[in-house]
Amino acid sequence: VLVAAGSGSRLGAGFPKALVEVAGDTLIGHCLRAVQQVPAIAEVVVVAPADGVDAVVRAVAGRFTARVVAGGTTRDASVRKGLEALDPQLTHVLIHDAARPFTPTQVYRRVLAELAAGAVAVVPALPVTDTVKRVRDGVVVKTLDRDELVGVQTPQGFRLAELRAAHARQRGEVTDDAMLMEQAGIAVRVVTGSDHAFKITTPFDLAVARAMQED
Ligand code: C5P
Repeated sequence: VLVAAGSGSRLGAGFPKALVEVAGDTLIGHCLRAVQQVPAIAEVVVVAPADGVDAVVRAVAGRFTARVVAGGTTRDASVRKGLEALDPQLTHVLIHDAARPFTPTQVYRRVLAELAAGAVAVVPALPVTDTVKRVRDGVVVKTLDRDELVGVQTPQGFRLAELRAAHARQRGEVTDDAMLMEQAGIAVRVVTGSDHAFKITTPFDLAVARAMQED
């Protein structure tokens, strides 16, 4: 499930972020190209902004066999729309942010290998390099122990039955799917992510992505 329904307001492009072009292709196009190189992925559902379904269909058409469905107002609502559109026979799913178009296929493979070894939930992650502090009203409350912290990326992999159940029980805001599994008391395994799996959120990130592709 490729979630691509974000508005991209922090990017300021004025149209859906997933349709922004880098090196001659949309963010969705780059993601799908990686997915095509991973044979274990049987089907792809792209979750598009409700007012951008036709544009996403056009971006995908003739190049990939991917179903396109309309997303929701939050990321988790968009994921649920994607899950509903999946073939009910499938046993596992990867949820990937379209905003991470340069995620190497090795990261997909690491997540899949862990699922194949029996994990119920898997996330790729990298150690954080900044010192991270909790701040309230402009004042530092606590410095967190960096040795215990990682930055979590996508694709995140799950056994579908448990992920569907966790989404059905969801209360409150979540920023990724692994968080729902944690709340359900399910162990979330961590594999090594990649610097190239960084998320394009701000105009600076987009500039970095474009500079990288010029190399
Ligand atoms: O907003 P955030 O950076 O967390 O978005 C991560 C991913 O979730 C992006 O690929 C974005 O398109 C997707 N998303 C979505 N539906 C939303 C919000 C975000 O599919 N309502």
